[in-house]
Amino acid sequence: MTKRIEEIVEYIRSHRCYKHPVFKHWVAVNPSPEAIGAFFHQLQCFCTATRPGWNFPKALEILGMQMESELLQEIVDSEVDHGPALATMAGFIVNCAAKHSICPNLYDRTAVEGKLKDYSDQLLGSLPGYDPETGLTVQTQKAIAVFERRKQKDYEPTLLNLGSALALEMVSNNHLIPGEKYCLIDRGLYEATMEHPEMRYIVEHWGALGAEQQHEEKICKAVASVLNEETEALIIEGANGLLESLVSFWDLLDTALLQSGYKSAARETVKIV
Ligand SMILES: [Fe+2]
Ligand SMILES: [Fe+2]
Repeated sequence: MTKRIEEIVEYIRSHRCYKHPVFKHWVAVNPSPEAIGAFFHQLQCFCTATRPGWNFPKALEILGMQMESELLQEIVDSEVDHGPALATMAGFIVNCAAKHSICPNLYDRTAVEGKLKDYSDQLLGSLPGYDPETGLTVQTQKAIAVFERRKQKDYEPTLLNLGSALALEMVSNNHLIPGEKYCLIDRGLYEATMEHPEMRYIVEHWGALGAEQQHEEKICKAVASVLNEETEALIIEGANGLLESLVSFWDLLDTALLQSGYKSAARETVKIV
């Protein structure tokens, strides 16, 4: 890595979002099935918004960044089927926490996601700005809005999108997926193991061979190749936009559903990986 990309990578690693204690707090609180459902409703809606490429790969191509366009398209293509796998895992964890079958058919994505939204409406529905139709908090709406920019094709939004994608893939690979594995599998709160077919989502995303490792490598390569004095400010701005909206997203879920854990955990520096 050149010094320039190293500095951006280090900036993202040092952001509070990258080490957010939300998963430590999950383990400390051992949330109710309803809180788990509400949490996963917000999370699955955010993840859904991050998958489509919209005009982003095309815009890179139009702007003369052919190799970067191909790398982004490979990331987008690899996301097929991740939505149903996430719904199955979320329903399975809700069932495990409840110790009975709240989601009887874990492979009926619509039914599982409907149940998750019901719990979100129950627990988060009175928050200011909560949208009853989508069941999204203001913080989730703002995090999702970052990816709406992929519908634009101009130079500035495209460079902002590169920065946001870099931050997203780094956070996904080093905080989100390891954090989910830690609280859903490793700490033994549920019957979940890496061998359970219902946990396929974690198996596919986690570790050196997981999807997120590939994504991080590809986006680092794409950003490094376009990074220069002229592009740097927009790329950092894009990364920062994702990190700031995502840290607010975690803060809200942490406060509203996990009571921000316990005091000693909130003070310590939490390292998931
Ligand atoms: Fe994915
Ligand atoms: Fe990813």
